[in-house]
Amino acid sequence: MRTVEWVNGVVRMIDQKQIPWKLELVDLPDYQAVAASITDMTVRGAPAIGASAAFGMALAARQSSAGTPDGLIADLRGAAQVLKAARPTAVNLAWAVDRLMSLVEKGSYASADAIREALLNESQRIADEDVAINQRMGAYGADLIKDGDTVLHHCNTGSLAAVDYGTALGVIRAAFEQGKKFHVLLDETRPRLQGARLSAWEMEQLGQPYDILPDTAAGYYMRKGEVKLVLVGADRVAGNGDFANKIGTYQIAVLAKENGIPFYTVAPTSTVDLAIQHGDEIPIEERDKSEVLTPYGHPITPPHFNARNPAFDVTPHRYLSGIITEHGIVRPPFEINLRRAVAGEQM
Ligand code: MRU
Repeated sequence: MRTVEWVNGVVRMIDQKQIPWKLELVDLPDYQAVAASITDMTVRGAPAIGASAAFGMALAARQSSAGTPDGLIADLRGAAQVLKAARPTAVNLAWAVDRLMSLVEKGSYASADAIREALLNESQRIADEDVAINQRMGAYGADLIKDGDTVLHHCNTGSLAAVDYGTALGVIRAAFEQGKKFHVLLDETRPRLQGARLSAWEMEQLGQPYDILPDTAAGYYMRKGEVKLVLVGADRVAGNGDFANKIGTYQIAVLAKENGIPFYTVAPTSTVDLAIQHGDEIPIEERDKSEVLTPYGHPITPPHFNARNPAFDVTPHRYLSGIITEHGIVRPPFEINLRRAVAGEQM
């Protein structure tokens, strides 16, 4: 089942706020609802929000009553702004919206309806490509997992974070599908618990052995020598290989280096932002403190207590063993090799 898809003129997505308790689908009739579902994390994960925003643009084209190409493009520019503002860190969101806007702005269309059709086809292409790209990354990354290994994973990077299959968890899935016997440790990933709720649910579906860890236990298992490999996703990779990912990634990267454990991020080239030279330029989303103090409506403290809630952190590229992309594994020097991968060169 796909995380997000176009069904009879609406955008249908899995409501990730309900998992693992309920598998519930929501139908979104307009682009404003798609933007809201990205902000409130009904859908989350970098490639999944990119594909959702693309379908949101196809909805916006249908919502517009413009009868001419120019009128429709003006309306689409407004929708693009709303969708791109839904969340700031994952570049896949802007990447998908910009890909659709450049298609309509650079093309020449005989009618507004021709644009509507082109947008729907292109958003469908983005979704289909995402699945194929994840499967390719899975195949490259699976070579790193050996029988008997324990792999540490952070957040949720599985089929729920993408259209299907997943990035880092897609690598784990590929190794599982190859018949490898290994174990997965899933950081629970406070405060929204994507590891405990979503990644563990995906491992249950697959039948892959796993344990959920309190985030604070990752170093303990690394120092004991249990962890042989760390795999995480990315929300934006800068030109030098620094990357933003779910809060907590940086401390895992430092612990992995300290303990001599290979540490990889798995990211399609749509997550690479060559306009940004290094990680400090990546905008980091700060979310509401209620996610820390009252996760999923369960109060840990009185609601007036103080808290900070950065949703992502930046890991400097020196901690990375490599970046697993759809063109192979990118190794240092990242400034040079990332550009080659983005250009489509085989690594
Ligand atoms: O806040 P989220 O749940 O959208 O954050 C997700 C992550 O940080 C993932 O690791 C990232 O999107 C890459 S996985 C496809």
